[in-house]
Amino acid sequence: MLKGKRILLIVAGGIAAFKVHELIRLLRKQDAAVRCVLTETGARFVTPLSLQALTEDKVYSDMFSLTDESEMGHIQLSRDADLLVVAPATANILARMAGGLADDLASTVLLATDKPVLVAPAMNVRMWSHAATQANVEILTKRGIEFVGPNDGAMACNEFGPGRMSEPAEIVAAIESLLTVERPLAGRRALVTSGPTREAIDPVRYISNHSSGKQGHAIAAALAQLGAEVTLVSGPVAVPDPAGVTVVKIESADQMLAACLAAGAVDVAVCAAAVADWKMATPATAKIKKKAGAAPPALELTPNPDILATLSKAGPKRPRLVVGFAAETENLIANAVDKRTRKGCDWIVANDVSPATGTFGGDRNTVHLISAEGVQHWPTLSKERVAMQLAGAIALHLTRPRPAEAAE
Ligand code: CTP
Repeated sequence: MLKGKRILLIVAGGIAAFKVHELIRLLRKQDAAVRCVLTETGARFVTPLSLQALTEDKVYSDMFSLTDESEMGHIQLSRDADLLVVAPATANILARMAGGLADDLASTVLLATDKPVLVAPAMNVRMWSHAATQANVEILTKRGIEFVGPNDGAMACNEFGPGRMSEPAEIVAAIESLLTVERPLAGRRALVTSGPTREAIDPVRYISNHSSGKQGHAIAAALAQLGAEVTLVSGPVAVPDPAGVTVVKIESADQMLAACLAAGAVDVAVCAAAVADWKMATPATAKIKKKAGAAPPALELTPNPDILATLSKAGPKRPRLVVGFAAETENLIANAVDKRTRKGCDWIVANDVSPATGTFGGDRNTVHLISAEGVQHWPTLSKERVAMQLAGAIALHLTRPRPAEAAE
């Protein structure tokens, strides 16, 4: 499966470095080409000679070596690879990656690369659990760096817990899944709206709803996994930003519409946000005070712009595919079919959000995909699976020749 793939293996300093010999052997067995960058501390655990013998290639370690830089600059090392693998990844190299340091060849290559990076951490259990390391892992994960391990187990320091580097076979499996994932949406742009909006009543109060953003965020992540360049316009939510996605955070429907229009031309727009239908005609600029004996204030509301309908309007800038959601509590299919026509979008993902279904804020969803061709009833799935299935359907639609092209 890895035949012809080019792996740039960055070996940092840790006792687990002895496992890279087996890792290289397994990769070579599959006819992958492996080239090594060895850090200064890595060279205390494995020798350049052993790596050179196993890879049948030169081992790179010196940033300032005239021959290394003239033969193969740090940019070229990354250009010539399909994937960078850091194994073992020490707490130190994770911190340097998170901080964007470039003070040796390994860190410079990692900063200069635009290729996928897989990291196999290996360190003492307390170093792994330390808040600083965990914060670095979070930063790197958000940037789209992939992790394999660490595993639980007995360690060289006579302690037990998470910190052991994954076994070479596990690292190979992670490499295979990264390099064989199909990216049918590569080169396509996607826009996703997610979460609720907040409409200010006064500086301390607002109108909003129960949307958690889980489904919209999962859709953004799934589209990015299939290779799309994704802009996610999100209202206030507690779920983390998906990796590898540009996130624009907004509060009100007006801001959400402006951010969607600012995202520019896209191939597909998915409006999963629960946009507040109304806003205050004139939000109070100071906190509305209670007055003894006076009636509660009457809130004068005015409609918000309809983002889905705006994006669905015909014209040269219309995305090729516009997908809306229909959050209904009764007559689900009939209301959703009607909503598709009313809003002018291509597909509607209909879901029942009655309290009994637990859809709002829950982890599972039962949806029905409504298009011009009819209604597909999907089984109850996790929101991640719904997102993957929807992203798959979008990829199929966008990669299908348009009727005019098909006729040519
Ligand atoms: N939507 C939008 N802008 C709005 C309102 C809704 O983009 N101002 C989008 C939602 O993101 C969703 C779809 O329209 O994709 C339907 O949202 P929903 O709340 O189900 O419908 P409403 O338009 O609010 O209609 P109704 O209140 O009649 O159910």
